Amino acid sequence: MRSDLADIYGQDKLPRYTSYPTAPHFSSAIGEKVYRHWLRSVSVHRPVSLYFHIPFCRSMCWYCGCHTSVATHDEPIAAFVAALRREAQLIADTIEKSLPVAHLHFGGGTPTIMAPQLLVDLADALRYIFFVTPDAEIAVEVDPRTLTNDLTQAFKYCGVTRASLGVQSFDRRVQRTINRLQSFEQTAAAVERLRRAGVRGINFDLLYGLPFQTVSSCLDSIAKCVELRPDRLSVFGYAHVPSFKKHQRKIAEESLPDSVARHVQSETIAEALQDAGYVRIGLDHFALPDDALATAQRDGRLRRNSRATPMTALTHSSASGRARSVGCPTALSKTWWPSATT
Ligand SMILES: C[S@@+](CC[C@H](N)C(=O)[O-])C[C@H]1O[C@@H](n2cnc3c(N)ncnc32)[C@H](O)[C@@H]1O
Ligand code: SF4
Repeated sequence: MRSDLADIYGQDKLPRYTSYPTAPHFSSAIGEKVYRHWLRSVSVHRPVSLYFHIPFCRSMCWYCGCHTSVATHDEPIAAFVAALRREAQLIADTIEKSLPVAHLHFGGGTPTIMAPQLLVDLADALRYIFFVTPDAEIAVEVDPRTLTNDLTQAFKYCGVTRASLGVQSFDRRVQRTINRLQSFEQTAAAVERLRRAGVRGINFDLLYGLPFQTVSSCLDSIAKCVELRPDRLSVFGYAHVPSFKKHQRKIAEESLPDSVARHVQSETIAEALQDAGYVRIGLDHFALPDDALATAQRDGRLRRNSRATPMTALTHSSASGRARSVGCPTALSKTWWPSATT
């Protein structure tokens, strides 16, 4: 993007590119009847992607725009997952035929907050309820600060193929300001553990436009990330919406880079990643040249995955579409998909 355009439009309150359809298009007018009708019209001849939202974290990062809350005990998490399983069963019963699933994505919040046995039981239940294809992508969003050995063993059992790690920035001052202290060593240990457990795909989530972030701190974070050679990186601009996400008020507006500085940070990161051998996918994704996304882009086969279905237990305070609309930028943007044909 040209920097003069970033200057003109950068301050506008535009819908987030990563949310598609954008938040204003979600509406409570879509009730049970319409939802059931839509579900019944899902073709079972083409595999679908299912997204499972786990809206809990152990602590709150002040920048967070995801639909989540802090859980200090495990009971609400287990109760939520039980409701999620019931909803999966209801959906399968409504469709009435065995639905082939080629992509399961567990996002959040922090899915890795689940106890290992809870994750294993959920994955087993989903394989029972749906027909998860043998080559399905099974992806989990991971908080590297709390990933345990037992959980990575559970990943192995469940056949997890891809992990998306929240990294954001390695700058300590930035980390202190956003209430997220995460050392390079913690991140490296998580990557090592995941690779040892056979998780082939590793994604990193990075942010620019965070409080006190500078071009040089962005470059330093990129250099550290490149050392760990993730297959893919998502690089999002920090969305500051304190009227909607009250905890973001802990971030002083004066500490935020302006729209021009944000633009420079984003383009500098893009250049650094391309210099390090990554291919740019769309505006904010990067992949190694032999990654499926990069090859699909080269061959003209890259498309939005319009068959992604979000699931969050309806017994939770938000309706299922809501989790998407407020939702996690990574889960939605990870609906890029290499198709078999153009
Ligand atoms: C569900 S979190 C990733 C997994 C895990 N909860 C973690 O943080 O490590 C999804 C990602 O959304 C991005 N994100 C969260 N809040 C954001 C915001 N306000 N603006 C832009 N991106 C945001 C972050 O990059 C974060 O890693
Ligand atoms: S960024 Fe991740 S860990 Fe932090 S509050 Fe949001 S969902 Fe939770």
